Amino acid sequence: MADQLTTPPKDGDPLWQQDFPINRGEELNNSRRQFLKFLGLTSGAFFSGTLAMALKAVFEENRTANLPALRIAAVSDVAEGRSVNFHYPDQSYPAILIHLPGNQFVAYEQRCTHLLCPVLYENDNHRIFCPCHDGVFDPASGRNIAGPPPRPLNKIKLEVRGTDIYAVGREGA
Ligand code: FES
Repeated sequence: MADQLTTPPKDGDPLWQQDFPINRGEELNNSRRQFLKFLGLTSGAFFSGTLAMALKAVFEENRTANLPALRIAAVSDVAEGRSVNFHYPDQSYPAILIHLPGNQFVAYEQRCTHLLCPVLYENDNHRIFCPCHDGVFDPASGRNIAGPPPRPLNKIKLEVRGTDIYAVGREGA
């Protein structure tokens, strides 16, 4: 059948056509093959993307569950309106402990949710501030309230045990 679709060169055809005769059947097969290859590659890319997202979710879940307790500071070391930097659950994750007015302690990952710049607590302005692009977070909840950050800061769970403050887990991812 492929032979029937071959266009044999004729005498009046241009030289290039005589030198490169076109086999239409083969051309159609090539197009089909390329299309199937494209479909295969596209499906493969989607599958890889989905798998990567699923693995990341599992990784984050494991990272959040069963974290060890870590002593951050003595309650008396962090005066009201002051903050202390620490790392939790390991050295790759900078964090900030804040003693809010009203004797309330909160802690967050210190990475801005926009482009991961370190955030700072500003007691005088009652805000957590990201100096990179003027992002602002609410110190009581970690909620993003101004600027480009797209979501709240990741919260760190705290416990006061005796005279010390401990980080005991993480919320959000
Ligand atoms: S990195 Fe914080 S606002 Fe852009």
